[in-house]
Amino acid sequence: MKIGIIGAGNIGGNLTRRLTALGHEVSVANSRGPQTLTALAEETGAKPVTASEAAKGAQVVVVTVPLKAVPDLPTGFLDGAAEGAAVIDTGNYYPQRDGRIAAIEDGLPESRWTEQQIGHPVIKAFNGTYAEDILDRGRPQGTPDRQALPVAGDDPAAKQAVRDLIDELGFDTVDGGGLDDSWRQQPGTPVYGNRGDADAIAKALSEASPERSADFRA
Ligand SMILES: NC(=O)c1ccc[n+]([C@@H]2O[C@H](COP(=O)([O-])OP(=O)(O)OC[C@H]3O[C@@H](n4cnc5c(N)ncnc54)[C@H](OP(=O)(O)O)[C@@H]3O)[C@@H](O)[C@H]2O)c1
Repeated sequence: MKIGIIGAGNIGGNLTRRLTALGHEVSVANSRGPQTLTALAEETGAKPVTASEAAKGAQVVVVTVPLKAVPDLPTGFLDGAAEGAAVIDTGNYYPQRDGRIAAIEDGLPESRWTEQQIGHPVIKAFNGTYAEDILDRGRPQGTPDRQALPVAGDDPAAKQAVRDLIDELGFDTVDGGGLDDSWRQQPGTPVYGNRGDADAIAKALSEASPERSADFRA
């Protein structure tokens, strides 16, 4: 599969490592330009590109930059993506890092905000997963206690494509509902950073409170 990854930090770097190892054709971008990604490219075989080029022809695009950088992504960066491409948003709102975002403070789910900024539906996934777990904790399907990730989004086909990809990476998934339900997996919720199996993740999602915890408010 052709996959474009925008953001080459903790999460973007490790997704680049694992997805190339699985044989996917990965293009990866950061803010400083492809010339700064030669080490990651040599290590993984991914193609270093600009953020404008990363989504070209991609069936899956991963947006994995700090939330405050989302509005700075190049205009039209998704225009060349494959028809029906799934766009994964791994983002979290950390007011200490991202500054105060009034709409999110007022209750808009973080991924809905990102979707509005980029003008394309997103699937929320990986946002509560430790970056190192992407490298270390994948297990074959059927492994007892296999770690599970919640996945939320409105487009059933895109959500299924993302769930299939996460399964390939070695994790179960739990349907986190539509994007309006995605507050259930935001920072401060019981599922955030939870390494449980599918049953534990489903239970944690059901126990979430819509009230943002004080640690994640400006
Ligand atoms: N770290 C985790 O374990 C973890 C877990 C789950 C979710 N998340 C969330 O996932 C998102 C990414 O986290 P991270 O820890 O991977 O971030 P990070 O290590 O700080 O890396 C951010 C990446 O985004 C790139 N970037 C920033 N602005 C950009 C722009 N305008 N255009 C293109 N690329 C840009 C940076 O490029 P440059 O270096 O060139 O500036 C860098 O490669 C955040 O919202 C975070 O909260 C993180």
